[in-house]
Amino acid sequence: MASKFGRIFTIIVISYLVSQVTCHSKRSIDLIAAHSLISDTRLPKEISPNSYKVKVQPFPEEGYFKGEVRINVTWQESTDLITLHAHNELEISEKDIAVIQFMADDESEKLSSSPMLPSPIKLIKIERVPKKPLIVLHMEKPLNRGSQCEIQLGFAGKMYNDTSEALFRHQYIDTVSGEKKWYVATHFRPNLARRVFPCFDEPALKATFLVSVARQKHMTALSNMPLINSEEIENQPGWVWDHFEQTPVMSTFTVGFVVSEFVYVERNKTEDDKDMGLDIKVWSRPDYLDMLKNVSDKIIRSLEILQDFWGVPYPLPKLDCFALPNYQATKPADNWGLILFKESELTSKKTWHISQELVYQWLGSLATPFWWSDAHINNALNRYVTAYTTLELNYGYETFNNWPTTMLYSIYYEFSKRYPHGKTTAIKQDSVSAKTELVFRMLNYTLGESTFKHGLQKFMTDRQYKTFFGDDIWAALNDQANFDSVLPKDATVNAIAASWITKDRLPVINVVRNYADNTVNITQKVYLRERPHDVPDQDKLLWWIPIVLVKQNKLDFKNTTPAIWMQKEKTVTLTDMPGSDFFIIVNPEEIGPFPVNYDQQNWNMLSNFLIHDKDRLKIPVNTRAKLLHDAWNLAYAGDLCFDTALDMTLFLKHEKEYIAWDPIFTMIDHIGRHIDSPEIHRKFQIYIRDILEPLYIELASESKEGESDGKAHLRSTSKTFLCQAGYKPCIEEAQAAFKKWMDSENPDEGNPVANQYICPVFQWGTKEEWEFGLQRIINFPPSRKQNERTYLLKTLAGCPLDSWKIERLLNITVLETNGNFSDNDVSLIFSMLAGRARGYTTLFNFLEKNWFTIKTK
Ligand SMILES: *[C@@H]1O[C@H](CO)[C@@H](O)[C@H](O)[C@H]1NC(C)=O
Ligand SMILES: *[C@@H]1O[C@H](CO)[C@@H](O)[C@H](O)[C@H]1NC(C)=O
Ligand SMILES: *[C@@H]1O[C@H](CO)[C@@H](O)[C@H](O)[C@H]1NC(C)=O
Ligand SMILES: *[C@@H]1O[C@H](CO)[C@@H](O)[C@H](O)[C@H]1NC(C)=O
Ligand SMILES: *[C@@H]1O[C@H](CO)[C@@H](O)[C@H](O)[C@H]1NC(C)=O
Ligand SMILES: *[C@@H]1O[C@H](CO)[C@@H](O)[C@H](O)[C@H]1NC(C)=O
Ligand SMILES: *[C@@H]1O[C@H](CO)[C@@H](O)[C@H](O)[C@H]1NC(C)=O
Ligand SMILES: *[C@@H]1O[C@H](CO)[C@@H](O)[C@H](O)[C@H]1NC(C)=O
Repeated sequence: MASKFGRIFTIIVISYLVSQVTCHSKRSIDLIAAHSLISDTRLPKEISPNSYKVKVQPFPEEGYFKGEVRINVTWQESTDLITLHAHNELEISEKDIAVIQFMADDESEKLSSSPMLPSPIKLIKIERVPKKPLIVLHMEKPLNRGSQCEIQLGFAGKMYNDTSEALFRHQYIDTVSGEKKWYVATHFRPNLARRVFPCFDEPALKATFLVSVARQKHMTALSNMPLINSEEIENQPGWVWDHFEQTPVMSTFTVGFVVSEFVYVERNKTEDDKDMGLDIKVWSRPDYLDMLKNVSDKIIRSLEILQDFWGVPYPLPKLDCFALPNYQATKPADNWGLILFKESELTSKKTWHISQELVYQWLGSLATPFWWSDAHINNALNRYVTAYTTLELNYGYETFNNWPTTMLYSIYYEFSKRYPHGKTTAIKQDSVSAKTELVFRMLNYTLGESTFKHGLQKFMTDRQYKTFFGDDIWAALNDQANFDSVLPKDATVNAIAASWITKDRLPVINVVRNYADNTVNITQKVYLRERPHDVPDQDKLLWWIPIVLVKQNKLDFKNTTPAIWMQKEKTVTLTDMPGSDFFIIVNPEEIGPFPVNYDQQNWNMLSNFLIHDKDRLKIPVNTRAKLLHDAWNLAYAGDLCFDTALDMTLFLKHEKEYIAWDPIFTMIDHIGRHIDSPEIHRKFQIYIRDILEPLYIELASESKEGESDGKAHLRSTSKTFLCQAGYKPCIEEAQAAFKKWMDSENPDEGNPVANQYICPVFQWGTKEEWEFGLQRIINFPPSRKQNERTYLLKTLAGCPLDSWKIERLLNITVLETNGNFSDNDVSLIFSMLAGRARGYTTLFNFLEKNWFTIKTK
């Protein structure tokens, strides 16, 4: 059977295979932000901050705020200029600015016997730098290294309610009282603290913060740290200052506060809780609170996993999470100890949103990238640790987007193009970050989980309350790998990582066995799928590649230690391979992000085993998916014959898991669209029915209580494809549903048929059924939703295989003049027809035949 179909495919020209996977596109946002921040205005290095006292009074109803800040700073080098970040729109009143010296410089300090008395420094000029977010205080004369001063500034500014940035306010309706209420909150990442108070607004300039927030008595204020005390404000009845404990040293972008009338759920501690000694609260408007009962359980479980992962306890005494109504930003605000989410993100069944923000509490807040250029690797590691946490949490309903295959397929697709990520920076940023995430995953497998974890723990212990560079992470992993002796002599983690992250390409390896002497030659080259493969200098692109290898006579997928590392060498030869009747699998479980090709005999043994052997499930599902995915994509690339790729699909008759089916659904869809000849189409449909029928029977037509998302998805996808392929039971199911509509008394009042059934009926059903659909469009009442009409018209035009139906539609809409169809309808019909091989040939014939009539019209 395989070769019969094999021939079919070799004659189909397939220009590309769009991978239909979607990534967590939200994740890329802060990368893009980070990218544009690399050129942000830097401060001179002479002065550094030690501590801040910030007092802010927001007026939620009026929409503005005012406050004052005192910054304790030290001179690292002599200068007479104090330069701070302050947004252009921030008002700073010049007459309130003061600089008071309270510590002499290093030299004077040595000479004098008594401590210095605080003395004001004379300022000769205060300069707001045009077009730059800077304020410069010019002093009468320079101070030398070691001098310490307190800088005092007053400020005021506007609060916005159309974005959720800097200090913002939003309104919501309290359903209990029916009143509109305001809340106020902050979101300073990446560099928006300067919009609220003058500061040294760079991640590396960490300092402690004493925050005070003024609020009206009926509201509650929260900040990064617990409350110390509250005091009434003189001359402002109804107002209170809340003073919060001093924070550890931290970056300005992690400072935050919220003022609201929200209420909270606190966790009821249970017997088996590990004692976190941590106060966790989840806040929301009162009528939303019921939805959030379980959130603190998720938080505490994630925190336990993360504490264990980093080997460093959660650093603050408390954690408050907010579900904010009308929150506008795409990312949660990850202030340290005070995380702000959209309401829907906290009530979602999924947990990765929450875990990801919790990861940032360590990697970002506790240890911080030195500059935004280091944020890339921070982001990639965050993604990996989030995935790790989500998998460890193991809530049954979450497959976490089939991590890592979904992401992996999209980067295979992207990096094998002739011109990778030509389109936008967003795609580039996301695929680069995804690749780095996969490098972390590869290192976890190849160094071993214990080495990997210990390396990162050492990194976190070293860098906590400090900043880091991207290389510090690789270096920490390298030290641990050397300590544990898990790398070859000449290898370093830095060199391995660099070979993967400095290129916009991925390798493919070719495994050729010599069955006479039980050796195997493994060759690497750059992976190119889209043709022509004319990338310049491709021979010079070489990687450090771990060769993890499983042999059929010992199917052990647990041991993920590489048999050998290809050290940027083109070819390696391994001995001690099994005999000629046993296959080998290289790079199982997608340990490294690269596809693998084999010699013909090894492919044949693999496909036979997967079809016939009782032990076939000993090959885990990610590896089954990989074999299938690699075979198909190598065939597209012209590196494997289609017969072999097709043989690899035959085991799907027995396959029940969505992950293994995923690559093949994409393949069916794209091939299906490009087949024109009715003869070949019929064969293709027989083939699809053949592989999908057992799955359809197994899954049954109705969903079961409590089944996984993957299973539900598999059922609906397999139904769609089977119906398209004309599978009888599936079509009958659809026709039965459609008949209810045809039998109804007033069919134009509404459509009782589920959308998934409509296309199969128009495709495979009778002329009467199709004609019934056409009449529904003609008689569509204007009072009903027009998008239902559009859907019906699209399926009426796009689904049929029968040229009679298409011609009839064209006759009525194009040739006959009646008021039932608009020009828009006609162009919609054309575009539906043009997208499918059958449609455009019929359309072409029609236009040819009626060209004269159409032209005169
Ligand atoms: C300023 O910071 C230094 C270093 O942290 C500290 O020794 C000093 O006491 C601080 N002075 C004031 C007035 O806060
Ligand atoms: C912002 O607040 C004003 C009232 O002060 C309101 O009219 C406007 O609709 C709000 N905008 C948004 C986006 O909520
Ligand atoms: C905690 O326990 C109290 C009383 O037992 C109960 O009313 C409340 O709903 C519980 N809270 C949570 C978050 O389960
Ligand atoms: C919260 O958890 C309990 C028990 O774990 C479960 O029965 C309940 O349905 C959950 N509630 C929500 C809103 O998810
Ligand atoms: C890390 O590697 C170990 C094997 O060393 C594996 O069991 C584990 O699943 C890996 N973790 C992740 C998140 O991939
Ligand atoms: C493997 O490589 C060696 C040395 O490069 C070569 O002599 C041999 O012919 C190769 N074997 C196969 C099966 O390609
Ligand atoms: C379409 O119109 C042409 C001529 O007007 C006619 O010959 C043909 O039978 C019509 N086709 C259908 C399917 O109604
Ligand atoms: C719409 O089509 C029907 C029959 O198909 C016809 O009787 C009617 O006149 C058409 N409507 C208009 C406005 O031309």
